[in-house]
Parts: sequence; C-alpha cells; structure tokens
Amino acid sequence: MRIGVLTAGGDCPGLNAVIRSVVHRAVAGHDDEVIGFEDGFKGLLDGHYRPLDLNAVSGILPRGGTILGSARLERDRLREAAENCAALTAKYGIDALIPIGGEGTLTAARMLSDAGMPVVGVPKTIDNDINGTDRTFGFDTAVGVATEAIDRLKTTAESHQRVMVVEVMGRHAGWIALESGMAGGAHGICLPERPFEVDSLVKMVEERFARGKKFAVICVAEGARPAEGTMPYEKGVIDQFGHERFTGIGTRLAVELEARLGKEARPVILGHVQRGGTPTAYDRVLATRFGWHAVEAAHAGQFGKMTALRGTSIRMVPLAEGVTELKTVPESRMYEAESVF
Ligand code: F6P
Repeated sequence: MRIGVLTAGGDCPGLNAVIRSVVHRAVAGHDDEVIGFEDGFKGLLDGHYRPLDLNAVSGILPRGGTILGSARLERDRLREAAENCAALTAKYGIDALIPIGGEGTLTAARMLSDAGMPVVGVPKTIDNDINGTDRTFGFDTAVGVATEAIDRLKTTAESHQRVMVVEVMGRHAGWIALESGMAGGAHGICLPERPFEVDSLVKMVEERFARGKKFAVICVAEGARPAEGTMPYEKGVIDQFGHERFTGIGTRLAVELEARLGKEARPVILGHVQRGGTPTAYDRVLATRFGWHAVEAAHAGQFGKMTALRGTSIRMVPLAEGVTELKTVPESRMYEAESVF
C-alpha cells in the first residue's frame, strides 16, 4: 500500500508523534510506502511531497510542531482539490490519505472523502473541541503549560497584591481554561460557553482581599465574553479562512477590574506558547495510538472515518461525526468553572 500523510491547520504538540507512528506501522508493520505532503493540502495540490521512511522520522517523537509543515487552505483551493480527487489520487498513486488536523482539516478530509478519495482522518487540536473523540492530543500539553503559568502568576500576584488575568486559547470551547483553571486553582474561570458576570468577579476579589488573601488569578478563555452590557467588549473579526480572531478579552477584563476594584490588575496572554514545544507523555501516547490505528483502518478499508478515543479504547468514527458540531464544555461541568476548589 502507498499512504500519503499531511498535517494541516494550526499546529499542535504530538503531530510528529502521529507521523512517526504512521510510518512505523506502515513501513515496519505492513511493508507499505509512505509519502508526506508538505504544508497541508497545499502540498497535495501543488505536488510538494517527500518519501518518509524509518530514518526520516527518527528522533521526532518528542519534537513539537510538524516536520511536514502546516497551513490553512482557502475554500476555493479546497474545492479544487475535491474536484480533482481522482486525478490527485492517481497522480501520487496513493491508496490512502491520512490528514491530521482540527475541525477545518477534518471538514476538508470529509469533502475529499465524499468526492471519492480514500481518506482516514486523525483529529488534533489543543482546544479539545472535536466531537466524537473524548480527547485530542495536544490538549494535555496545553493544559500543562497554562497550569504552570497560573502557578507562577500566583506567586508574583501575591508579592504585589495584584489581580492577574491569564488568557488561554479556546475560541469556541473553554476546555483549556476549565482544566488549567482547576489544576492551577484559579480564583475565577471564564468560558466561551457562558457569558461571565464582571460583578461576580469583582465580588470574589473583594471577598478574598477582605479575608486577607490579597491577590487573585482569573483564567479566561480567548473566546469568553461578558454578559451583555456589563463592560466594554468588541466582537472578534473574521479572517480570510473564516476564523474569528479575538481582540484581547484578557486585557479588557484586567482594565475593567482595575477600574472597578481600585487595585492593580495585569493581563497575561499565553497565546501560542500553549501550542509549542514538546508534547507530554500522555499526548505522545495518544498521538502514537492514533497513528497506528489510522494505518490499520486504511488496511481494513475503513475510509471516511477518523480515529477517536472512546473511554480507554481507540475507535473509528465517521468524519461527519467529528465535524458536524464542536464539542464544547457541557452544562453538567459548568459548576467546575463556578466553584473555587
Ligand atoms: O488550534 C486552535 C487554536 O489554538 C485556537 O485556540 C486559536 O484561536 C487558534 O488556534 C489560533 O491559531 P492561529 O494563530 O495559528 O491562526
């Protein structure tokens, strides 16, 4: 079998672990050939690819980023790929394509699959918001980075009697904010799933100061927004790929809290630090399992599906299940954001 692999969309710790696992399982396990397309679907369309053998993936397991490069693709170029599916499959002589990516990539994978390409998807995102899988690799690493930041911010906040507002990634889903906020013991957690009340945050900080704890750390997801009319807020702008870019809720909230509390507040935007660097052991293991199962699925002819973690097992689920809606923090877990543990 000849397998093509690519990484598309925003990068994520664990991508290289998947590539390595695909190559190991395919080459060593099945005597397959693997080629890697560069910069996502662009490489597939423009003919940029290279053979991947065992040596090509040696030493990449702990490396962040992706050795293949990653990129987002404009919608009309995606349509171009779907319209030329048969020709592209024949051009590269591939029997299976394994695209590794988030919602946008899996949507593209579904388009290509519907158009007749033999596709097995692998979900990735630090945001953990892909439906159909309990977890995506990269999430554990991002939560670890954000948790460490909260730990560190607490000591400087305490020294200066300040309120620190740490903004973490999560456009539509607040999983990173929720779990790093819990793990780091943030005193307030704001998620995109439910508008937050500035008054409650002010009250919480005042109560802490009144009982002698003269600092606070608030963890806010980039996509969180205040309840209507409670503080100045501007919606994000939509970029050329249809993604909403936010204008800094962490900074706005820090300014608002400083004004209302009469105490110093500082914003800290973690940004892409959460996406870079070496993956945790958990993410390496999940990524490796996904890669292995993707190759097995290709050999079993299970196309139009993606790997997914269900409980402790890896299952194949339809790509449609992964892309029809985002997995946001459910109501049943909102109490975790409201409580200070
Ligand atoms: O991977 C998802 C994500 O991390 C979002 O949380 C964030 O908004 C986005 O990527 C930013 O991506 P980029 O800056 O690469 O466009």
